[in-house]
Amino acid sequence: MSKSVLITGSTDGIGKATAIELAKKGYSIHVLGLNKERGEHVLKILKQHYPKRKHELFCVDLSKMKEVNLFLDAYIQRFKSLDVLILNAGIFPKKTTLSDDGIDMSFSVGYISRYLFSIKLNKLLVQSPIGEVVHINGSVIGEIKYSQLQAPKYNTMTSVWQNSVGSALLVHNWNQISNSNVSHMHWNPGVVNTQTVKSQGAIVRYLSKLMGMIEPEQAGQMLASHIDSVSQQEMASKFYSKGKLQKTKSKILKGQDLLKELLEFSKSFTQTDIDLSNH
Ligand SMILES: NC(=O)c1ccc[n+]([C@@H]2O[C@H](COP(=O)([O-])OP(=O)(O)OC[C@H]3O[C@@H](n4cnc5c(N)ncnc54)[C@H](OP(=O)(O)O)[C@@H]3O)[C@@H](O)[C@H]2O)c1
Repeated sequence: MSKSVLITGSTDGIGKATAIELAKKGYSIHVLGLNKERGEHVLKILKQHYPKRKHELFCVDLSKMKEVNLFLDAYIQRFKSLDVLILNAGIFPKKTTLSDDGIDMSFSVGYISRYLFSIKLNKLLVQSPIGEVVHINGSVIGEIKYSQLQAPKYNTMTSVWQNSVGSALLVHNWNQISNSNVSHMHWNPGVVNTQTVKSQGAIVRYLSKLMGMIEPEQAGQMLASHIDSVSQQEMASKFYSKGKLQKTKSKILKGQDLLKELLEFSKSFTQTDIDLSNH
């Protein structure tokens, strides 16, 4: 049987490129995105070039908790296990806006949905001998401004960094907080020439080139090779930037208070707690 991977935000950019590379390596791909047309285009490519696998498309608005929960509950009913989960969907907004749930839209897609996916799909991931979760993020900088999430006064960069800090705390502590051996890894692809960068002004695009920007295909190849060659134990709680292993930042290593604050906020906002009954 082929290995299965669910990739959020795989209708475009890094997620799409990774989906195609993993299909090449024999994985069945579950594509997840918002835009149906883009999703159907990716599904068509996968089915045309890699027809032996079972590829599927799911259109879900990850900024809406109700929709996320409905999707996850249906997914758990339908599938018995999942080998790899790639939490990639994220937005780099031009200005901070609120989601329908009344929270920074970037945080709802880039952190809240990831928290719910991590918890609810853990029971499928524990059924697999691979059981890996990859969080695609930028640098782990700054802190989460809980008091402003529902009325942001911070800039868009802070908005994106907060997601990375949230993911980093889950990645470093997942085995302990979930009491399972599902491994979580933090992957910073570096600057990648996706819509995120293309939609920025000329100065940001120029600086991106200076910072060694790569194309999505290259980012997808690097990530897919890593996933396909590294074991669950090697991946657990690891941080990578541009394919290189990084030291875990001390604020994450010593972040028990930060973790407590994050889990309390996440539980109260989503009304969902880590479910230890599945193991
Ligand atoms: N590009 C970079 O330089 C860079 C650097 C570091 C980290 N990252 C991170 O890498 C990840 C992917 O970024 P990218 O540059 O590849 O972005 P992208 O090309 O803009 O693709 C974003 C993906 O996320 C999906 N998405 C956005 N909002 C969604 C929502 N509400 N519900 C469901 N899906 C949604 C999009 O779906 P639709 O197409 O269907 O709308 C698309 O598939 C992000 O988390 C980003 O923060 C990117």
